[in-house]
Amino acid sequence: MFCIKAYQSSSYLDIKGIKVDGKAAKWELFPRVEALGSPLTISLAEPVDRDQEINIDISLSTTNDCTALQWLNAAQTSNRRQPYMFSQCQAIHARSVFPCQDTPDVKAPVDFNIRSPLPVLASGLPTGSRDYQPPKDTKTCGTLLYTFKQEVPIPSYLFAIASGDLACASIGPRSTVWTGPDELRGCQWELEADMENFLQAGEKIVYPYAWTTYNVLVLPASFPYGGMENPIYTFATPTIISKDRQNVDVIAHELSHSWSGNLVSNASWEHFWLNEGWTTYLERRIAAEVHDEPHFGFSAIIGWKALQDSIERYGEDHEFTRLVVDLKGKDPDDAFSSIPYEKGFVFLYHLDNLIGREKWDKFIPHYFTTYKYKSLDSYDFKATLLDFFSSDKEVSKKLQVLDWDKWFYAPGYPPKPKYDDTMAKKCYDLATRWQNMVSKPFEPKRSDIDNWFAQQSYVFLERVMNFDKPLRSEDVEKMGEEYGYASSANVEILFRYFAVGLKARCKSVYQPTSELLGKVGRMKFVRPLFRELEKCDRELAIRTFEQNREFYHPICRQMVEKDLFGDKK
Ligand code: BES
Ligand code: ZN
Repeated sequence: MFCIKAYQSSSYLDIKGIKVDGKAAKWELFPRVEALGSPLTISLAEPVDRDQEINIDISLSTTNDCTALQWLNAAQTSNRRQPYMFSQCQAIHARSVFPCQDTPDVKAPVDFNIRSPLPVLASGLPTGSRDYQPPKDTKTCGTLLYTFKQEVPIPSYLFAIASGDLACASIGPRSTVWTGPDELRGCQWELEADMENFLQAGEKIVYPYAWTTYNVLVLPASFPYGGMENPIYTFATPTIISKDRQNVDVIAHELSHSWSGNLVSNASWEHFWLNEGWTTYLERRIAAEVHDEPHFGFSAIIGWKALQDSIERYGEDHEFTRLVVDLKGKDPDDAFSSIPYEKGFVFLYHLDNLIGREKWDKFIPHYFTTYKYKSLDSYDFKATLLDFFSSDKEVSKKLQVLDWDKWFYAPGYPPKPKYDDTMAKKCYDLATRWQNMVSKPFEPKRSDIDNWFAQQSYVFLERVMNFDKPLRSEDVEKMGEEYGYASSANVEILFRYFAVGLKARCKSVYQPTSELLGKVGRMKFVRPLFRELEKCDRELAIRTFEQNREFYHPICRQMVEKDLFGDKK
């Protein structure tokens, strides 16, 4: 028998009233605890049996402080014709849309009923749209009621909605892309060549796709992440639409979450590596299937660099450089970095090598079957792996002597694996020529990077960015022009090129950097560019932020504010 109170998380909600099984209930909103929000308790008139269902009906509205939703007026959208809204709930922002048990350890099926004058998407399968006659006393803003059904139980952070001037086109037999009508054809071209191949590769590695259709919504430029694995509709930044099909690995990543994260979830954000490490591992296995083995090594080398950057930024002893972190009293957004992705990947790749690919590949579907529709922590993962190989003496022995605690809790670097570096080598060699430019001058030519994948330019630029002695301004400009980096349509290139220029205090990139910061809101680009621009010209950095404050998503705005002005709130 359970009784008296139902606990929910909430954040900046305006609660109007609560009914339990049709009757008005007593409720109380407790004072806000920063980042976590305000606990809401609902008093139940009767004790409740375990597994007994009750109906809780909460009327509420969100407020201007809502951290999950961005509302764009027509002038803020790409075609300036219609307003737009979208959500981003991971990690703990769902509670600013509705009160909930906002932990990935709790899952539920969801029905969505959303009214809007514009097309709506939500993280369920669409079940239609129809006329809606609201009760007489309600204000209505819409003409249609859009309905979606998510029958697979999902954690609150996978709740997602978007509405705006949206059109759709096919990108595969079970996939569509959604975006503004003017951008539709470009988005279709970018994704249609790879989408079904990715799905089939994922299915080969794990097991059949469980969510019926896989679609992509390409959002306005203020979307703060590269991608978000909302079920049925992955939300993606428009910066993956680079007109060269070179950034679709983000989609392979989000698709991989259909197994790791969405079916099998981390039980808390302290075990986030189970979501992102596994997803990064699957993403790279998909790349090896769809392209070739060197792509696996190349992507892993890029990942190691991202890991290095994050560890250097926090410091090698920092709590957040552990695989399993302690988040008590902390905001998971502050702990976000490449570490769970890349240290998690290195751990799984280590297990793959230790156990041997053939046997390891049998464990993958076993793991994703055991925890399908469930959540787990790192200790469940360890127990499941040990149990699976318990009758294999050779593997068992290796797993017994593995220093699990060190992998889980040691801060700083894991042991560096060996990767196939055929693709990376060319990038390093060219970077060395630029490094020696002063003592051994050379005339850069476009042909230096002929037939390169864009990612090879990323690796090259990252090497240059980390030279002890930055380039001379005139060399930065020469590079930008000769290699076409300064005018690239690929934001991944522009971002790294501007970072090289800022490190070199090359004044001619300051203004273009400030302009780019008014056009993209993806935090991966925005935060490092602000950090570097601030070192060059703090006043310009602050002016740029103030001018674009409304353009940025609330999460991004909050993070940049912390980066530029410290944690004042
Ligand atoms: N689930 C993440 C995005 C996320 C993480 C949002 C934590 C909020 C809190 C998503 O799958 C992701 O990892 N996106 C990456 C893509 C990349 C690794 C290919 C991104 O946004 O850059
Ligand atoms: Zn991810």
